[in-house]
Amino acid sequence: SAVADLAGRRVLISAGGTREPLDPVRFLGNRSSGKQGVALAQAALARGALVTLVAANLEVAVPTSITTVLVGSALEMHEAMTRAAGTADVIIMAAAVADYRPRSVQVGKIKKEDVGDTLTLELVKNPDILAELSTASRPGQLIIGFAAETETDADRLLALGRDKITRKGCDYLVVNRVGQDAGFGTERNTVTVLDRHGVIVNEVSGSKMSVANCILDLIG
Ligand code: C5P
Repeated sequence: SAVADLAGRRVLISAGGTREPLDPVRFLGNRSSGKQGVALAQAALARGALVTLVAANLEVAVPTSITTVLVGSALEMHEAMTRAAGTADVIIMAAAVADYRPRSVQVGKIKKEDVGDTLTLELVKNPDILAELSTASRPGQLIIGFAAETETDADRLLALGRDKITRKGCDYLVVNRVGQDAGFGTERNTVTVLDRHGVIVNEVSGSKMSVANCILDLIG
């Protein structure tokens, strides 16, 4: 879209995948490339929005014209998003945030000589950023979440999405199937957008840029 229909709107987007540190050299991570989130940021910018991108470990470059806050872990993303949320008109949580992090981060490298044949990791739950921001949202603020699922059955995928939007309390949920050759890391995406009642408002398949523009069409 060449139209500046988002002129002056403050859009906050998270992208990428968090890394949860185990020690100074190791982390627990995920396969999110950040492509869909960066496409959202680029599309929003092209439509006139004032964009802030909170980026975790992206595999893709971000245009220098986009204000970017770099984060590593879920706790860092939590802090950056909470700080920026107050002034945002629209928040899009496209990042893959780790649900759990190691309870403690070792100061020095974990050494197999010290550990032995089994290493047990204790993980604690991370804050749910999307649910928190939704609970704290101001009137007029629009919050969009993502749900990446490996479920292959379309009806069960939809049921998972409906469950998730109820739990998260966001305005829209973008549901996509990931794993094998879909979603994470790929150039294209196929998504179903649900409103807060679980009703399908859009189904799109195409480049991550065209999916981004469909998502931005939700912003009235
Ligand atoms: O619960 P699940 O991880 O499937 O939810 C995905 C949505 O919730 C995404 O929008 C993701 O950015 C967000 N999320 C979050 N904080 C977490 C976990 C997920 O904001 N700790």
